Formats: sequence, C-alpha cells, structure tokens
Amino acid sequence: MNPAAERIVVRHSCPLNGEVTVPGAKNSVLKLMATALLTDGTTTLTNVPDIADVAIMADLLAAIGVTTQWHPSDDRVLQLTNSGALTPVAPYELVERIRASINVLGPLLTRCGTVRLSLPGGDDFGSRPIDMHMSGLEAMGATFEIAHGYVEASADRLHGANITFDFPSVGATENILTAAVFAKGTTVIDNAAREPEIADLCNFLVAMGSDIEGIGSSTLVVHGVERGSLRAVVHEVVPDRIQAATYIAAAAITGGEITIRNARAEHMAMLLRRFDDMGISTTPQADGVTVWTPKRMRAIDCATLPYPGIATDYKPLIVTMLSVADGVGIVTENLYPGRFRYVEELQRLGADISTDGHHAVVRGVSRLSGAPVRAPDIRAGAALVVAGLAAEGETEITGIHHIDRGYDDLVGRLRSLGADIERR
Ligand code: EPU
Repeated sequence: MNPAAERIVVRHSCPLNGEVTVPGAKNSVLKLMATALLTDGTTTLTNVPDIADVAIMADLLAAIGVTTQWHPSDDRVLQLTNSGALTPVAPYELVERIRASINVLGPLLTRCGTVRLSLPGGDDFGSRPIDMHMSGLEAMGATFEIAHGYVEASADRLHGANITFDFPSVGATENILTAAVFAKGTTVIDNAAREPEIADLCNFLVAMGSDIEGIGSSTLVVHGVERGSLRAVVHEVVPDRIQAATYIAAAAITGGEITIRNARAEHMAMLLRRFDDMGISTTPQADGVTVWTPKRMRAIDCATLPYPGIATDYKPLIVTMLSVADGVGIVTENLYPGRFRYVEELQRLGADISTDGHHAVVRGVSRLSGAPVRAPDIRAGAALVVAGLAAEGETEITGIHHIDRGYDDLVGRLRSLGADIERR
C-alpha cells in the first residue's frame, strides 16, 4: 500500500515488557553512504536500518554513480559500489526529499573538483540554511555560484584552513570534514559538532585511510591525504540513540520495564540523567540498557542543546512524556524555533500544553484520550505513537511515511514489547 495512505492504529497499552534491539542510526548511515563517494570499490556498512531515507539516499547515489544493494543473505548489510565514474550532480527531486543529500557536497567537491547541488529547502519545523557549509568550504578555496535553485561549487584542489563555526552544526561539520580529507594541508574545525554520529563518521574515514585528530571533541584536525589513497572498508553503523530513547519513552509512558539491546547509554548520558529526575531508572548493560519506570513520572524542565546536551530530536518524546507526568514542565527549544507543530496534535489527545516562542509549558494530565492525529515529521510522528500507548481508546496516526523515514519497524518492535498497535 502507498505509505502516504497507511496509518498506525494504537490502543491504550499495558506496561511494556521484554527486549527490543535498536538498529544503526539514520543520522549516521546516510552520511556514511554519502562518504562512500570518496573511494572506488565496494564499501560495506553493517547494522544498517531498513528505513525509507536509506532508499532515497541510495537513489541519489545511483544518480551520481554509486550502486547500492542489500547483502543477499543479511538484511542489515548494505554494499555500495563506486566505479569511479561519477556525475557530481544532486538533482532537485532527490535533494528535496532528504536533508542529508547535502552531505554529498563535501565528498564530491573534494573528489571531483565541482558539484551542482539543488539548494535544500526548509523543513516542516523551519528554515534550514547551509551558509556555514558554504563559508567553511570557501575558506578552503571553493567558489560558489547560485542560480536557478542550484548551488554550483568548484575548486581545483581544496586547501587546509582554520574554520571556527558560530554554532556546532552537524551537517556543516560533516561536509567540512569530508572535504578536508583530500585538501592540501591541514584543516582545523573549531566548535565542531560532537554528536556520536560525527565520531562514527570520523572513525569510518580513519578506517578508510584519512588522518583525523580530536575525534569526539569540539576541535577536529584533518591532515589531507592524496586523492585516490583511501580504500573501501567494512564499517558497523553506530546504534540509533533517538530510536533507543523512543523505546524508553514508550516503556515509561506505560509504566513498563524493558531492555534495549544495542543501545549505548554513554551516547545518551544527559538524557538518561534527566529521565532519572523524572523517576525513570536506567542501567547500562554490556550490550544495551535496562529501563525501569515508575507508575507516574515526575515533571522536569529542560532545554535542547547541541550534543552532549539534550538533542532537539528527543524533544517531542519529552513533551509527550511530560503531558502525563505529575506536575508542570517547561521545555525550551534552542535549535529549531518552529519545532512545536506536533503540540496541536497532542492537544487533540487531551494534553495541556501552551507554547510561547521557543518555550512549551506542559501541565501533566492524568489521562490522554485517543483521537485521529497526523504526524508532521519523523520524531513528532514517533512521539504521537508513544502518546497513543497512554491514551484511552484508539489513536489513529496518519502521515506515517514520515515515521518510516527514520524508524525501522516501529510497530513490530513495540508489538513485541506487548503494545496494542497495528499498521493498516
Ligand atoms: N544552521 C545554520 N546554517 C547552516 C547550518 C545549520 O543556520 O549552515 C542552523 C540550522 O538552521 C539549525 C541549527 O543550525 O537551526 C542546527 O542545524 P544542524 O546543521 O546542526 O542540523 P542538520 O545537520 O541540518 C541534523 C539532523 C537533524 C537534527 C540536527 C540537530 C541529519 C540528517 N539531521 O540536521 O535530525 O535535528 O542535526 O541535531 O543528521 C531528524 O533526524 O529528524 C533530524 C531533523
């Protein structure tokens, strides 16, 4: 069925129980796929989530000259074959479907010396400019021209530069990092983003033969190597901390107790501390996290910040949890001012939330009540599913193609934990 016409139906569920395994992170795998542009041969990624955005990125790479296929006997393994004959153009139809398409800019520019990329538009939660990507690459010798909705970048060979970001942008850090790999000399990126997915990208690049210092810190130092000197490697994608948080939220809203295999507590340290303040206890295990949740959570205040702060992608989950917690919580959004659209949908379920600019005031109610709602984006869509677990009666979520962009079988995984949920 056309995913745009499909829906998820979720009913009030008893406490979730059991084990669930999280796959690799969307926000890493898409970047790793784009980075396979840097080297000829077959790159193999393992622990790959089966999500719509991976298929869209595969389409974009196919248009450029890299073919992608799932391993015939392992549905978590993706193989990307780069023959070296690349067309460095990212067309509008593909770029508008997926923000991470901007990640082909750095690899193509440094490898081919030229790129033609459709300008990415905004998102459902606001404007998403690329000025920091461009000014960083300009400092490395690139020139840009913008015409007819496309940005054309060129540089015979990029050179190293000292780049200090005004803000630790995830995408800009990734594009400068990948571009710097073949630049002449050393590039220093200060105030770099520190998300675990950036460290994953750095580790992937180092395995390929790049020379990077400061991995995991806010200063990344890249010593350029010769074009053609990287090799294709096998790499395991870092586990998805946002999906892991989604299962914690689902357990917490039902008062359940679950174990999330493959989750990395150290990648969610700040979030788990705040969850602890809400009464949710988590115990790191060798290969995951065990979660115990109270009958009713306590309200907290929190603000989104770049990593290691509370990620903006967790926020719809936190607002949803607060909507049934004991007390009043204030949530402040510091990254995307427009990222409160789903609040109206939660209000339809009976949540008591008011927003004022960057802030949401959430007054916990004792119960939500099921209703038809629409997912406005990936994370908000997953949060509405979580809300449905705690809502009396039935909640029907449409717009679930958004959820499919970033969640690998959310319905099946929640059902395996005892949730009353189906896809129609
Ligand atoms: N920004 C600029 N100029 C730039 C780049 C960014 O002003 O040149 C601003 C943005 O407008 C935004 C802030 O900086 O206000 C953060 O943007 P960032 O570049 O860090 O985000 P991104 O790389 O576009 C990634 C994730 C998002 C996640 C953000 C923040 C991917 C594909 N996307 O976006 O994830 O919210 O980092 O952590 O990695 C999602 O997965 O649903 C999602 C939206």
